Amino acid sequence: MPQTLHSERLFETKYGYFSEDGREYVITRPDTPRPWVNVLSNGNYSLVISQTGGGFSWFKNSNLNAITIWRQDLIKDDVGKFLYIRDRDSGRYWSVGWKPVCRTPQAYTCRHGIGYSIICSRNEDIESELVVFIPQDSSLEIWKVTLRNHSSTRRNLSLFSYLEWCLGVSPETHREFHKTFIETQFDANLNTLWARNRLWEVRNSKGVHRNRDWEFLAFHSVNQSVSSFEGDKEAFLGRYRSEVYPLALEKGILTNTDGKWNDSVASLHVDVTLDPGEEKSIIFTLGAVEIKDEKVAIEWIKCYQELSKVDLALEETKAFWEKLLQTPRVETPDRAFDILTNIWLKYQAISGRLWARAAYYQQGGAYGFRDQLQDSQIFLPINPDKTREQILLHARHQFANGTVYHWWHNLSEEGPVTRSSDDLLWLPYVVLNYLKETTDFSILDEKVRYIDAEEDSLYNHCCRAIDCVLTRFSPRGLPLIGEGDWNDGLNGLGCDMKGESIWLGHFLYGILREFAMVVQKKGDVNRAREYQTRAARLKKAINELAWDGNWYLRATGDDGRVLGSVRNSEAKIFLNAQTWAIINEVADNDRAEKAMNSVEEILDREYGPLLFYPAFTHTDEAIGYLSRYAPGVRENGGLYTHAATWAIMAECILGRGERAYQMYTKLCPINRGMNPDLYFCEPYVTPGNVEGPDSPHFGRGGWTWYTGSAAWLFQVCVEWILGIRPTYDGLLIDPCIPKHWENFKMKRLFRGDVYEIEVVNPNHVNKGVVELVIDGRSQKSNLVTPFKNGEIHRVRVIMG
Ligand code: GLC
Repeated sequence: MPQTLHSERLFETKYGYFSEDGREYVITRPDTPRPWVNVLSNGNYSLVISQTGGGFSWFKNSNLNAITIWRQDLIKDDVGKFLYIRDRDSGRYWSVGWKPVCRTPQAYTCRHGIGYSIICSRNEDIESELVVFIPQDSSLEIWKVTLRNHSSTRRNLSLFSYLEWCLGVSPETHREFHKTFIETQFDANLNTLWARNRLWEVRNSKGVHRNRDWEFLAFHSVNQSVSSFEGDKEAFLGRYRSEVYPLALEKGILTNTDGKWNDSVASLHVDVTLDPGEEKSIIFTLGAVEIKDEKVAIEWIKCYQELSKVDLALEETKAFWEKLLQTPRVETPDRAFDILTNIWLKYQAISGRLWARAAYYQQGGAYGFRDQLQDSQIFLPINPDKTREQILLHARHQFANGTVYHWWHNLSEEGPVTRSSDDLLWLPYVVLNYLKETTDFSILDEKVRYIDAEEDSLYNHCCRAIDCVLTRFSPRGLPLIGEGDWNDGLNGLGCDMKGESIWLGHFLYGILREFAMVVQKKGDVNRAREYQTRAARLKKAINELAWDGNWYLRATGDDGRVLGSVRNSEAKIFLNAQTWAIINEVADNDRAEKAMNSVEEILDREYGPLLFYPAFTHTDEAIGYLSRYAPGVRENGGLYTHAATWAIMAECILGRGERAYQMYTKLCPINRGMNPDLYFCEPYVTPGNVEGPDSPHFGRGGWTWYTGSAAWLFQVCVEWILGIRPTYDGLLIDPCIPKHWENFKMKRLFRGDVYEIEVVNPNHVNKGVVELVIDGRSQKSNLVTPFKNGEIHRVRVIMG
């Protein structure tokens, strides 16, 4: 049985370790403090799998189009697609993953890798290895199960798969209704159970609910003749039983039921006999296609009944990710930093956030207007065309008046229209960053439709977003917060369109200033002047009205209340109102230093900087749902990783290399994972939040995978700590590192060339570059002017 032997175990705890190359996390026991999952996706078909074998699968959208049933339960982790092994002689059975039977295995590991997961376990001297992955060019998942007989007798075994169909909107809230529309059909020639659904809870073309076919076809197949099959849940589980001890496993045979009259499930039963020492592999597939692609599904089913094709597809999947994640590649004195930056943050952002758009803690499914735009920045140094696609996709979800869907679902193209005040601004923001990476100004001329109007240039889409926000100002010159800004949970402050957002002011100021340059370049002189004037006025207003003495206020409410002031007893100081004043240069040097000192004094704690402090202790409709979380939980005074990454960035801008690195070190999930019984979460991905000091669980992480912090932490590590970032004029090299770092390296693509950069720090400084040697030529400036000749360039940077 193929087993990777890891000579060195990195960051080992009692629950597991990273493989030597950092590309796998090996979980060594099934009872981790929370489900530790992998989110596999090829951008079309996706699944979540936990270390016990729990999880679910979906096609294109986890919310509208779940293939298997799903119920979020982080304590039980009891919903999944399962495989049972049954000894036909003894009648005893167990499961390939720890769930659902939960026998104590003789050995157990779950290896989460990039694009695959492998669960190995050993029970009654039968070793099983389950490899789960999604081939790149299909919409199906493969379960390759290898069984090996370690006993000294011939073993007559059976394998039973089991899953419950959802085939549509999830979570399933009315099973009794929906089950009547699902039908299954066994196809003996293909060893396949087909599943169809005659109803989909997505509006039809006339806008009517509950009168539309589920436009897909699902299948579950195995690569050897089945001994029996099952399409009915009651027949499989037995009355009042569960997946833990199903009737079918007691009987050892299924009832061969399919059709329209069941609570539809799928189970395929195959027999496997193994001599001592013998091993055999069996392949199961599960997938879905559009109805018109039935033939394609048949081809795939046949193709993946062959072991060699499966092995090839797995290699292709691994190679795909290997290539995608090749650059940027860093080598620093901090191994955790390298593992995160080179591998897992990119993987989390791409597989989890952009493609799967779901994880265990949040099912998502939709595209958040601000969320996936921010996430798509992960592609800037990898393949900026992907960022471009994302920008154009989001522009298509804007209304002609500049406003946007807060989020929208693909497949149904529906989403909420809110008065969230910042969503629309992320469009010009990400466009600006795309331009800095590529100087591809042609993107501004791309024609994209509005939701409610004919096509228009992306440039005009951006201007409409900005112009819309410019109309939403308070009489004293600050932008209105509406139903919340980046902080969704502040959705009660400004519903009457009176409350103001200081953070939004900082954010808008930066966009106005930078976009004015683009506007100028476009020859749109009046608009450029207007943006510059408005920017200057805004900066003045913020500094006159929103400086609280030692930090910036966060917001005001419709009722005139102020958030984020020393005069308040709760929520005295907010992180974003300080960090973005620095990031976008709203604060002068003195205020920037003061604001960040306040952050360090009040907000920065054992596990990094809190979103604000102290937490709210009472619900308050005039603040929003943020005040409804328990104190210290998520955005209510917890550490919100997404926002915490901006604090690292602000520290770097101020040149405080030790503080920046310290913050990073404190929140780095690999470091946090060294104390797993406090932290709870997967060590290989960022958590959305960590509970704050006002919670009895201070330090406990949650909401892993589905968080915008992955792409941001990546960007902050690469562009701000390592300091290698794009500008219009070239690649700037401006590290802000801890003094003890003697050197680091980075390989990065930039405008068609490859740069191999080595930075040395002989004088142990935090910041400052004295010399750059590019391909043997020395220069004083720390800007690499692009060659654009498609070659590899060596850059040696001397700090001092
Ligand atoms: C959630 C939302 C994101 C928002 C953040 C802070 O992560 O998806 O859009 O900015 O919370 O409230």
